[in-house]
Amino acid sequence: MPRHLTSLYDLTPAELLEILKLAADLKRRHRDGDRPQMFPGRVLVQLFEKPSLRTRNSFEAAMANLGGSGLFLTTADAGLNGRESLNDVARVISSYADVITMRTFSQQLIDDFSEISTCPIINALSDDRHPCQALTDLLTIQETFGHTNVHLVFVGDGNNVAMSLAIAAAMTGMKFTLAVPSGFEMPADFMTDLLRRYPDAKVSQTDNPQEAVSTADVVYTDVWASMGQEEEAERRKKAFGAFQVNKELMACAPGTVKFMHDLPAKRGLEVTDDVMDGESSIVFQQAENRMHLARGLFAWIM
Ligand code: CP
Ligand code: NVA
Repeated sequence: MPRHLTSLYDLTPAELLEILKLAADLKRRHRDGDRPQMFPGRVLVQLFEKPSLRTRNSFEAAMANLGGSGLFLTTADAGLNGRESLNDVARVISSYADVITMRTFSQQLIDDFSEISTCPIINALSDDRHPCQALTDLLTIQETFGHTNVHLVFVGDGNNVAMSLAIAAAMTGMKFTLAVPSGFEMPADFMTDLLRRYPDAKVSQTDNPQEAVSTADVVYTDVWASMGQEEEAERRKKAFGAFQVNKELMACAPGTVKFMHDLPAKRGLEVTDDVMDGESSIVFQQAENRMHLARGLFAWIM
């Protein structure tokens, strides 16, 4: 049976660290002009239901750098719009691919696909999870601080990115606080499951962003309305107004704090230009690291 990454829960903490190490080594070699051709003739298939700049292109670039190539198709192109059954699509497409990335609304679709696929399935974002983003963020934190034993304060929605970061925190011992308006927290069943799997997890939620960031090493945010929530955007804009990451909020954090965002950002909503482009921002290092993490992940999963 192939290994999959449908969620970070598919990994042990030791495996997670192994992926970070592979990615860091490959990044170092890449900087020296060394692009090991680990996967000549191998094929990456990307099956996406939602748009993507970073994820799609960093995966494709990563596979090209390693000597392989990539195919891209929308879930509709693949026939997952009712043209044929999920089982049939998964059997056929995995017989052409060496690894498959999937970006979907439903997490269940990725989970179901992984049951059938004969090659590894990597979750490239669902409504509930974004494991490759969280792995990349750990890599970026490790590069910046020399370790991941930091306090990350996520100011915003208890969404896919927040939940994957919370799992990443639980797996590595990192402290994670979500500063979130009431009604937008990470779901109660998610928290129960996280604490059942990782009873020592330092993961908490608060509605006070100023107090939360006062001990932050990293302030992190993401869009208030995720892909698929466009019709809720106005309602969310009102609910999240007091949770904008701006100069005033960053002034409540220690002077050494770093700012992170998975991107795309809605500048002027969840974050202001001065913070995005300010000295504490490491958002573009984060975005670049998507590619290095993708190579480390391919090296591990294939
Ligand atoms: N951070 C991220 O996943 O970006 P894309 O949606 O552009 O892939
Ligand atoms: N929470 C965002 C992340 C985008 C990378 C979304 O799902 O749209």
